[in-house]
Amino acid sequence: MKTPFFSAALLTAFALLAGPQAGVAAMPNEPIQPVPKSLGQDPARARLGARLFSDPVLSGNRQVSCASCHNLSRAGTDGLRHSPGLNGKMTDVNTPTVLNAALNFRQFWDGRAATLETQVDQVIRNPNEMGANWKDLLRKLSADASYTASFAAIYKDGITQANVQDAIASFERALITPSSRFDRYLRGETDAISASEKAGAKRRENVWHSNVGR
Ligand code: HEC
Repeated sequence: MKTPFFSAALLTAFALLAGPQAGVAAMPNEPIQPVPKSLGQDPARARLGARLFSDPVLSGNRQVSCASCHNLSRAGTDGLRHSPGLNGKMTDVNTPTVLNAALNFRQFWDGRAATLETQVDQVIRNPNEMGANWKDLLRKLSADASYTASFAAIYKDGITQANVQDAIASFERALITPSSRFDRYLRGETDAISASEKAGAKRRENVWHSNVGR
């Protein structure tokens, strides 16, 4: 997949809060840090989360999946002004990408969800988006032998709300773009971006230094 050039820029706030990533050889005086290569999620949980992410069983009428709005072959979004949710009702705002969402310090445009796990709960119950409820959803998943086996293999307590939230969040932690040209440049590959891109990056760095006073 083509990775967006802007991915590292989105991370400025995060990088400032979290400081340099351990083990990353940052460029000297570089305020923006590259997207980390891994967030350390469990691969089996992430695989289960990938299946849930694309499965319309998560919605009340079995017609909408996370991937309906967050299309991973369209950079984790749908390119629409508003997205059709349950029964064709439109969302109030447009769909942000899920790529690198794991690095956001809050979720949603207004930051109302503190974690990816909370975000999953809110979107599943939102009547304009997936219009489901946990009781019915857990019952539908438990009726599926393949989900029952996959959850039992990974989680001691099998299919629960917390485990569905954890699996989807684990998948989202795998949706990071650590190898964009700009990330590679930030990791010290000086030829990864063109001369004019470097000039732009330099200007941005100067603005940052004059604003932050470093
Ligand atoms: C009907 C379309 C739709 C569906 C289905 C949907 N989303 Fe979203 N998603 C949105 C919209 C719209 C927003 C922004 C809402 C807001 O900020 O108020 C959003 C926001 C998010 C965010 C926050 C990203 C950010 O940068 O703040 C994440 C993460 C996310 N969705 C993941 C999911 C997951 C996981 C599922 C499935 C469990 C899902 N979405 C299902 C439309 C959808």
